[in-house]
Amino acid sequence: MADITSVLHETRVFPPSAEFAAKANVSGMAAYEALMNEAKSDYAGFWGRLARENISWHKLFSHVLDESGAPFYKWFDDGELNVSWNCLDKNIHAGKGDKTALIFEADDGTVTTSTYNDLLKRVGKFANALKSLGVTKGDRVIIYMPMSIEAVVSMQACARIGAIHSVVFGGFSAKSLQERIIDAGAKVVVTADESMRGGKAVPLKAAVDEAIGLGGCNSLEKVVVYKRSGGAVNMASGRDVWWHEATASQPDECEPVWVNAEHPLFILYTSGSTGKPKGVQHSTGGYLLGALLSMKWVFDAKPETDVYWCTADVGWITGHTYVAYGPLAMGMTEVIFEGIPTYPHAGRFWEMIQKHKVTTFYTAPTAIRSLIKLGADLPAKFDLSSLRLLGTVGEPINPEAWMWYHEHIGQNRCPIVDTWWQTETGSNMISPLPGAVPTKPGSCTLPLPGIMVGVVDEAGHDVEKGHGGFLVIKRPFPSQLRTLWGDPERFRKTYFPEELGGKMYLAGDSTHQDADGYYWIMGRIDDVLNVSGHRLGTMEIESALVSNPRVAEAAVVGKPHDIKGEAVVAFVVCKGARPEGDEAKKLVAELREWVGKEIGPIAKPDDIRFGDNLPKTRSGKIMRRLLRAIAKGEEITQDVSTLENPAILEQLKQAVV
Ligand code: WT7
Repeated sequence: MADITSVLHETRVFPPSAEFAAKANVSGMAAYEALMNEAKSDYAGFWGRLARENISWHKLFSHVLDESGAPFYKWFDDGELNVSWNCLDKNIHAGKGDKTALIFEADDGTVTTSTYNDLLKRVGKFANALKSLGVTKGDRVIIYMPMSIEAVVSMQACARIGAIHSVVFGGFSAKSLQERIIDAGAKVVVTADESMRGGKAVPLKAAVDEAIGLGGCNSLEKVVVYKRSGGAVNMASGRDVWWHEATASQPDECEPVWVNAEHPLFILYTSGSTGKPKGVQHSTGGYLLGALLSMKWVFDAKPETDVYWCTADVGWITGHTYVAYGPLAMGMTEVIFEGIPTYPHAGRFWEMIQKHKVTTFYTAPTAIRSLIKLGADLPAKFDLSSLRLLGTVGEPINPEAWMWYHEHIGQNRCPIVDTWWQTETGSNMISPLPGAVPTKPGSCTLPLPGIMVGVVDEAGHDVEKGHGGFLVIKRPFPSQLRTLWGDPERFRKTYFPEELGGKMYLAGDSTHQDADGYYWIMGRIDDVLNVSGHRLGTMEIESALVSNPRVAEAAVVGKPHDIKGEAVVAFVVCKGARPEGDEAKKLVAELREWVGKEIGPIAKPDDIRFGDNLPKTRSGKIMRRLLRAIAKGEEITQDVSTLENPAILEQLKQAVV
């Protein structure tokens, strides 16, 4: 723990403007503290009140929190609801049927919109199509789709019939897709012919074919293919069906299936410290409550006047909570975007904000940093006066990037919500409430009302302000993951370790609190990298490398990167002689491609180095600390006396050029 120290010294403070605070859903620190105190004095009463006020229940719950099976907590257990009903029908019954729900902008700039009435019909039709393909409550459906109205429709359609979706990011490889189809035991895969990103076609259906070709997908019965680009695809007869054909004769009304609040809404795979991705399983009622409350509190949602835009792909948790569910449950108008920030020009985000009069913009620090490089004259060309609130998520935002975002995008007018949360927490956990909490560049500030965050040492004891420790959440909260799909023991060990008493949620991040109680996230405590806001397990990349016939052993670490936050560095021992010169260069290219195929392009190492061995202790343990120092190009000051083979360090310092 001693080496968890912070090097950040940021003293700037930005209180909310009187004008913003006056209209905010939570206005002023006293209002924030009142909510927090309500939660502290009557925890179940607080969440029960909010669940009754914010969710439309088919059958109201009679009790709030059941801790008897800790850490397998249950919330609103005997309540019944449907998430799609809460996102669509509820708003239509409130008179919002003709309101625009989705503004979809395609890669090539084409805009398509869908009203709440229209979206409900599309969801109903597709839900009926899924039913006709044999999907029933509890069945798993994998969604491997481009950003599109249809991606949202497929998620909502699953929710409508109680099927459990698992969205796989379109950038993941066939191999990753196959593993998820098998692990989830999916009956149906929903995909598209191709997705379009930056003017290039990304073959999705071909990847699905390849995934199935790898074998083992025994649960899979049908593949539904949405025609996006019109690119050529193979359709296996009896198995593959076009979206437009499957829906053509379906009625557009589909009765929602009322499910128990604890019924799983979805599984989303994410990386951990072992080679196997974790299937994070979320609930229905608690998850929806987290989505709704954070939309109100953090994004200060004003459904009548806001145009909300979260740039995340539905393949990530952010695209679940803040694209597919939260904004719709609030009855907002939201923008969804197929493309990338730099195509056809690097002002695309700013142009879209102008065009759609976006009020609330939520993106990742990595995107901000890459756009900073291109200069402030780009955003200056566009009218950004519609903006009133900015957000970031995915990794700590460095104060320079925060200031740039504040000055050049927010024009010194818009509060910034730096939202700390995780796939596992389902919704924002630590973030300023923009009309209440003064912000400090680089800090995610204070927990949301009801979220009991703490900082502890290895034994689970609280550490003092100013000292680093493990970020924990001390009380169960509604939107937290319920288990890991098919692996409750891993769930318990990973998130509720005995060493900490077995009841505190261990987030896997290190953090400290400053004198004002503000949280500053310092990074992961496990073997997980954060590359461009995406979570990558070093073990997963290592197993991918070792599965290459040329590789005997591999160790992967991260090194700081200007834009991506962290870059992947791999140290590789080959079978046979250590490659040098052109052979080494060729192998680097080959291994990068290999990792791209095994996991996905985001996991490709930036730097691969070869050694006759890896630095190990006499007991055979790889000394990752040394590898991290080498990756950063630092002098090795650590004690290497326990090292079995010190000469290896010199070899590994040599980059392949
Ligand atoms: C990890 C979770 C939550 C959606 C995106 C990533 C890091 C996330 C912040 C932030 C500092 C952050 C943490 C966390 N992280 N947001 N605002 N400040 N770090 O979801 O893939 O589940 O990753 O991302 O390390 O544990 P994820």
